[in-house]
Amino acid sequence: MTKKSIRTLVKGNTVKKKAILSLAVAGFMVAGLAACSSDGGSGGGGGDKGLIGVAMPTKSSERWIQDGDAVKSQLEDAGYTVDLQYAEDDIPTQVSQIENMITKGAVALVVASIDGTTLTNVLDDAKSADIPVIAYDRLLRDTDAVSYYATFDNQLVGNQQAWSVLNGLGLTELDGTAKADAPAGPFNIELFAGSPDDNNATFFFNGAMEVLQPYIDNGTLVVQSGQTEFTAVATLRWDGETAQSRMEDILTSTYSGDTKVNAVLSPYDGISRGIISALESSGYTVGAEWPIISGQDAELDSVKAIVTGEQYATIFKDTRDLAAKAVEMTTAVLNDEEPEVNNTTDYDNGEFVVPSYLLVPSIVVKDNIQTELIDTDYWTAAEVGL
Ligand code: BGC
Repeated sequence: MTKKSIRTLVKGNTVKKKAILSLAVAGFMVAGLAACSSDGGSGGGGGDKGLIGVAMPTKSSERWIQDGDAVKSQLEDAGYTVDLQYAEDDIPTQVSQIENMITKGAVALVVASIDGTTLTNVLDDAKSADIPVIAYDRLLRDTDAVSYYATFDNQLVGNQQAWSVLNGLGLTELDGTAKADAPAGPFNIELFAGSPDDNNATFFFNGAMEVLQPYIDNGTLVVQSGQTEFTAVATLRWDGETAQSRMEDILTSTYSGDTKVNAVLSPYDGISRGIISALESSGYTVGAEWPIISGQDAELDSVKAIVTGEQYATIFKDTRDLAAKAVEMTTAVLNDEEPEVNNTTDYDNGEFVVPSYLLVPSIVVKDNIQTELIDTDYWTAAEVGL
């Protein structure tokens, strides 16, 4: 409607004029909103289906940047506007980011928590406002406000981390099958776990110990430091520097002379890089006496470290697939449909067993970087240095 036609229509009639003007203003606003959403869209999606808040823990780890980007673009392609926020591992920041999303009128929330137990109150607010919440990769604990959980099979991730270590030592195949010509050992191993406030960390550690414990019990593996309990080996916030200083302490206190560490169970690539730095500063060099080190996330620097032999393996969890699953769950809930789940037993969050979809992770070693990461377009050969 042009200004001229409004003037013609309302001539001499103030009430009508006001009504028509507000109609026109509303029209401009709709046009403005449409412009905003297409500005924000990276996949050319609409945005008029509503705002979805996506809360991610930190940008300090590459995987969460990939997760955030993938969730955002897939939601935009589905017609939503996305408010993607990173909290730099600061819990109050994440709480206030989620509060803001609720205030802005989000129709759904996708949340990868920093500490899975600290969002109970803000998620209660979401529930009161009828906003569905999808837990992304990490379980949201102590709340009944979460609808569904999209993640990988975290117990299997732990099994795979342990299998990769055993494989590197020559004891098993990558799937954990014992090798006929396995060396007798004993091998010295040190254990690291993730952040104690992340529900995944215990799953990874328990999954790994399920595999390693029999080898420790029969003397094939020896934890020289004696540090085997989760509480002793956990790494707050998955922090690489914390892991580095713990590894340095272990090397100084436990490994001297001919006693060398042969393997390190590491739950995450950033922790593995800390462990590698500690080994280097203690005089270890890549070669015969360099230990077997596991990891997780297929972060670029760590894939490069696998190519150069500093790290033996990582666990690949394709963030694009996880994003797709979370987006599928979110849109299903918003359309009053039931999303597909494949686990309704394992993820009790303290309030109830959260219906979950578990994707399947895979082990990456030097020999399968090409098929797992390059052929799937996760990294290019040039990026990883192949
Ligand atoms: C994720 C892992 C990641 C770790 C540290 C966990 O919750 O499942 O993939 O390595 O957090 O960011």
